Amino acid sequence: MKILCIGDIVARPGRDIVFSYLDSHRYDYDLIIANGENAAHGRGITMPVYEELKRAGIDAVTMGNHTWGCGDGAKVLEYNDDIIRPLNFDKGCPGEGSMVIKARNGVNVGIINLIGRVYMQPADSPFTMVEAEIEKLKKKTDIIIVDFHAEATSEKIAMGFFLDSKVSAVFGTHTHVQTADERILPGGTGYMTDLGMTGVIDSVLGMDKDIIVKKFLDNMPSKFEVAQGKSRLCGCVFEIDEKTAKTVSVERICYTE
Ligand SMILES: [Fe+2]
Ligand SMILES: [Fe+2]
Repeated sequence: MKILCIGDIVARPGRDIVFSYLDSHRYDYDLIIANGENAAHGRGITMPVYEELKRAGIDAVTMGNHTWGCGDGAKVLEYNDDIIRPLNFDKGCPGEGSMVIKARNGVNVGIINLIGRVYMQPADSPFTMVEAEIEKLKKKTDIIIVDFHAEATSEKIAMGFFLDSKVSAVFGTHTHVQTADERILPGGTGYMTDLGMTGVIDSVLGMDKDIIVKKFLDNMPSKFEVAQGKSRLCGCVFEIDEKTAKTVSVERICYTE
C-alpha cells in the first residue's frame, strides 16, 4: 500500500497547492497524511480549514508546536478523531496523540504524532512515551506511521533508529526544509528526517521574506504575514508491504505547478 505524507501546510497558498496536487493524484494513494500545524494563516488550525483539508482529500492530520496557535485548535481536536496532536504534550490537553484509521484498501493504519525536546518547548520524553503507544496500537494493526515534529536532525535520526523494525515508517516535520535522506533503515522502517514545507517557495518558512529579513536586521516587534507567490508541495511516499508491515520503497515528493 502507498501512503503519502505531506509536510507542514502553510496557510492559503499551501492549502491551494494541496488541492491542485490531490485533484489528479488523490487516488494514487491508499492513505494521505498531512501536517496541519500551520494550515490556518501559518499558525494552528480552525474548523473551516480542517474541513477544507478533508475536502482536498487528506485522510489524517498531524500537528506540532503550533497546535493551539489559533483559538479553534482545541475544538478541532476534541470533535474530530482523524486529527491528532503530539502524544507527549501535557496529559490534560485536548485531543489524542495517536489514531487508527482505515485506508482506502481496507487496511488499518496506526499514526502517532510526537514532538521533540531539543531547541523546543518542554515536553515529556517522546522516546519513553512512544514505546507504550506502539504496544497499544499493535493490538489493532501492525502498520504504524510516526510523525516526529522536531527541530534537531540528530533527535529525529535517533528516533528513526530507535523505532527501526518497531514501526513501518518515521518521518520528521517542523523545520519546513526538505531533507534528501529518504531511505529504508536496516530493520525495514521507512525514514526521512523532514518532509519539508507545503507553501510559498520564495518565503522564510512560508512567511513574507521581507518582514522576516527586516526582523533579523532591527529585531523590532513585527507582525508576520503569510507569503504570496508560487508554491510547492513537499512530502514523501512510503510503500508498505501489508503482510510484513515493512517499507519496501520511499519516494521523496517535491511538486510545483
Ligand atoms: Fe511547521
Ligand atoms: Fe512546528
